[in-house]
Amino acid sequence: MPPQLCSGYLPLIGNDWSVNALILIKTTMNVDNFRLQIGGKEYVPIIIGGMGVNISTTELALAAEKLGGIGHISDALIGYVCDRIFKTSFVSRKRKKYAAYSTNPDKSAVLFDLEELAEAQKKYIEHTVSQKTGNGAIFLNCMEKLTMNSGIETLKVRLCAAMDGGIDGLTLAAGLNLRTLDLIQAHPRFRDVKIGIIISSVRALSIFLKRAIRLDRLPDYIVVEGPLAGGHLGFGPGDWQTFDLKTIFNEVLAFLKKEELNIPVIPAGGIFTGTDAVEYLQLGAAGVQVATRFTISKEAGLPSEVKQHYINASQEDIVVNMASTTGYPMRMLTSSPTLRYTIKPNCEGLGYLLENGGKCTYIDEYYQALAARKPGEPLFIKEKTCLCTGMANYDCWTCGQTTYRLKETTNRLENGKWQLPAAKDIFLDYQFSSDHSIRLPEPETI
Ligand SMILES: Cc1cc2nc3c(=O)[nH]c(=O)nc-3n(C[C@H](O)[C@H](O)[C@H](O)COP(=O)(O)O)c2cc1C
Repeated sequence: MPPQLCSGYLPLIGNDWSVNALILIKTTMNVDNFRLQIGGKEYVPIIIGGMGVNISTTELALAAEKLGGIGHISDALIGYVCDRIFKTSFVSRKRKKYAAYSTNPDKSAVLFDLEELAEAQKKYIEHTVSQKTGNGAIFLNCMEKLTMNSGIETLKVRLCAAMDGGIDGLTLAAGLNLRTLDLIQAHPRFRDVKIGIIISSVRALSIFLKRAIRLDRLPDYIVVEGPLAGGHLGFGPGDWQTFDLKTIFNEVLAFLKKEELNIPVIPAGGIFTGTDAVEYLQLGAAGVQVATRFTISKEAGLPSEVKQHYINASQEDIVVNMASTTGYPMRMLTSSPTLRYTIKPNCEGLGYLLENGGKCTYIDEYYQALAARKPGEPLFIKEKTCLCTGMANYDCWTCGQTTYRLKETTNRLENGKWQLPAAKDIFLDYQFSSDHSIRLPEPETI
């Protein structure tokens, strides 16, 4: 008699035991069979990606860190996030200072106070890293497209204050700036903090690496983000379907091999099961970055009723559009309230997306719409949205392409709502599941 295979894993193929044994090993592999090495430290190879404006909360990042993985927090709208957590008044002070500009489309004078920015950043980072209890790490997702009406100065302050606050790693995202490494090279932690970049093409990677090589400061990890990710995308709204993560990931691996560079590569975007992750790890990924599955976790910052919208979403409800003022396409639910915004630009208090010189495409559209409106008619804004306000109010429901599958990952409650899983359950499912199975959380009674 051949040895009995675990039921439910795979059908036996004929009588060839060796083939069957091989298939068994392959399909029963799980993420826990692998480890991620970054800068001499070892982690469970699961990274929860940064999800802006406090969707990836301190609590969510800590859940990953506690289990030996890596969690991100994000510094998008940092003053606003601090006000919510610590009851500080960064936003109201700024709004008061620039109140005179509230009806003025020219926002060039509406600037961030760099000392206050540093204070807010350091406070948030210290608050998060001081609660670490595990063997994992906490990284900061830093979107460089948040130009804050003074891109270079504010970026330098954000990164330096994060290092001062004790962050383990900096993940440079959305709108990589070639000068970033130069900006922080004088910081005492420049060579000890882990630095990673998010790219969606070999081209972007090779441009960044040229500068990094000159400074003798290569990134410690590279996140390759494919077209199924949430948030802003490195692909066009009309052509994202023509790209796929596996191809770009393999191109990046081949490029690094050719250049004889040994940098951990971490794919992201659409990795929905532990087995999806294993497939990448077997292809040479150092770890995986995931986010969508965690958007509905108890620890994620979205309000509970918004999490229900995410779980109920169908494939048709998910679009890639150009509503973001960053100039990058963004994926979101069509029901996002922010897509119907006609509010006055809110740059005096927020203003995180003001380009240098105080421009924002929402300001332009808003004032054009105001001028074109006939008496008695509602205001009609063509394409853009006030993303700062939308993200601050959890009205911009950005999501990954696999959001429509979230209902496979949890239980429906008696009242018709969905149970919100704990981040730990999702993390452990990624770590230990095999054969594309998804372990549902223990049912909760209401
Ligand atoms: C709700 C949401 C918000 C996101 N926000 C950001 C962000 O602020 N910055 C960023 O670099 N990536 C952001 N991302 C991308 C994730 O960090 C991650 O790389 C990607 O979504 C992983 O793919 P998955 O969601 O299919 O697992 C976001 C993703 C989601 C789902």
